[in-house]
Amino acid sequence: MIRSVVRGNGAALPRRIMKNADFEGMVETSDEWIVQRTGIRQRHVAADDETTASLGEAAARAALDSAGMTPADIDLIILATSTPNNTFPATAVEIQNRLGMHHGFAFDMQAVCSGFVYAVATADLYIRGGLAKRVLVIGSETFSRILDWSDRSTCVLFGDGAGALVLEAEDGAGAITDRGVLAASLRSDGVHKDKLFVDGGPSTTGTVGHLRMEGREVFKHAVGMITDVIEATFGEAGITAEDLDWFVPHQANKRIIDASAKKLGIAEEKVVVTVDLHGNTSAASVPLALSVAVADGRIKKGDLVLLEAMGGGFTWGAVLLRW
Ligand code: UT7
Repeated sequence: MIRSVVRGNGAALPRRIMKNADFEGMVETSDEWIVQRTGIRQRHVAADDETTASLGEAAARAALDSAGMTPADIDLIILATSTPNNTFPATAVEIQNRLGMHHGFAFDMQAVCSGFVYAVATADLYIRGGLAKRVLVIGSETFSRILDWSDRSTCVLFGDGAGALVLEAEDGAGAITDRGVLAASLRSDGVHKDKLFVDGGPSTTGTVGHLRMEGREVFKHAVGMITDVIEATFGEAGITAEDLDWFVPHQANKRIIDASAKKLGIAEEKVVVTVDLHGNTSAASVPLALSVAVADGRIKKGDLVLLEAMGGGFTWGAVLLRW
């Protein structure tokens, strides 16, 4: 059985760090409120010359380096983003060009904060279907560009950044001991479309628009949706929470992460938390968290890792893989 095995990973963050205290003169908020309600302490904010494409390119180059590969080795680029450089062409194609890659194919995937989980599951299908051998999966976002900086209920929550993985086809035994992607479950339900959305777009207003969120409503659904899709993934793989080495959740809110891990019976020391450092970087949050836990030596070859995300749509999903 063909498995999609992680060969390398990388990340890129804008130069500028914005601390919670930096908001205190802009909107009525406080470091204390932000830390207590979300766990966020800082986020990176892109300068004019830093875009979804440039951050995605930097993360992709880092992932290729760590895999010992060059763009010539890659067949497919999937970029998860909701903040493309332009309405079209796909920012994935721009990254392909920046990498000097003129073969293979590239496309964007739009599932908001669940984008990276959707993209890994999709890359796995391309690899197992024999349509690609080596795939660059990137999550890159510049949410700072779509924030309403006068809305304290959203502007303090998000940040910019990018992360990437290189996946490669490898023969596996079809067992849970295989390396690579082992199981995935994806969900969406558009009945919730107005709880977290951007109030503009090419076909409606002809503008880019700003992010709008009913935070309390999102919070109310998050834990149930996350735990439900993870339990489905555990069922598909035939494992329990105890078998996991690492839980790498979407980094939106420390309280959602804690409540989800508790409900699933995942021990606190197995949970990777980076929301304090990056804020919510949407589709970049899971690969950025992976990059921190790989760099500090927590996630090692052979570890069983669970990725999870939930966001606008709503969309949600989980991927189980052995690193
Ligand atoms: O990645 C996609 C998924 N997105 C999420 O997972 C976000 C989910 N939601 C959340 O994380 C939380 O709902 C928030 C962090 C957005 C808000 O936390 P909360 O505990 O649900 O607060 P709340 O919305 O119930 O607001 C409590 C109070 C309100 O004041 P009143 O009505 O009680 O007087 C808000 O106006 O806090 C006020 N508030 C703020 N105060 C200081 C809202 N934003 C701020 C702020 N600073 N930045």
